[in-house]
Amino acid sequence: MTRRFLFVLGSARADGNTELLARRAAEQLPPDVEQQWIRLAEHPLPDFVDLRHDGPVQAPTDDNATRLLDATLAATDVVVASPVYWYSVSGLTKRYLDYWSGWLRVPGADFRATMAGRTLWGVSVLAEEEEVVADPLVGTLNNSAAYMKMRFGGVLLGNGSDRGDVLKDERALGRAKTFFVREPALARFPHETSGD
Ligand SMILES: Cc1cc2nc3c(=O)[nH]c(=O)nc-3n(C[C@H](O)[C@H](O)[C@H](O)COP(=O)(O)O)c2cc1C
Repeated sequence: MTRRFLFVLGSARADGNTELLARRAAEQLPPDVEQQWIRLAEHPLPDFVDLRHDGPVQAPTDDNATRLLDATLAATDVVVASPVYWYSVSGLTKRYLDYWSGWLRVPGADFRATMAGRTLWGVSVLAEEEEVVADPLVGTLNNSAAYMKMRFGGVLLGNGSDRGDVLKDERALGRAKTFFVREPALARFPHETSGD
């Protein structure tokens, strides 16, 4: 199967550090790997409404939700490129992930079976120097991948506050060169890995 990477950009501003870092990593992908880039801010999703237990969940009718569902289902690799906002993913990104809960129940979408075995990656930039403060973001993505029985490629982290700052982060740029080279294992929840 041809690999197809979907980059979901979750910053609330255009041309931010997270997108810059994601593009640096994507430059290293082989030419036969397809890439699709979607800025969530340019395709806003309506407020998520939890209809999971109110009868069958309908396929989305909203254009942006339909586009995102189709793009997600078509991706062998989903790259969540979200800046660190309040130590976790941005609101735009969180809303996209909330939609996954509805998509799991859309008849005919086969969302869970389709996504199982595919790979979730993260790219993120934060202003603080200490990367450990981004643990909630990393945990959100790791656990989401584990819940979906997806592989988890980890999170490529960079440092920066103002636009373009991340281009001065040599360590992040170095890590970007090989980030997508690894072949990730199936994600596991922390309680499944403790004791290894
Ligand atoms: C709403 C908001 C919350 C933020 N929260 C954090 C945070 O918790 N920790 C941190 O280090 N930086 C935080 N930042 C700074 C951003 O992570 C930083 O500016 C990053 O470069 C933004 O990425 P972008 O350029 O891709 O938008 C926050 C910025 C905003 C706008």
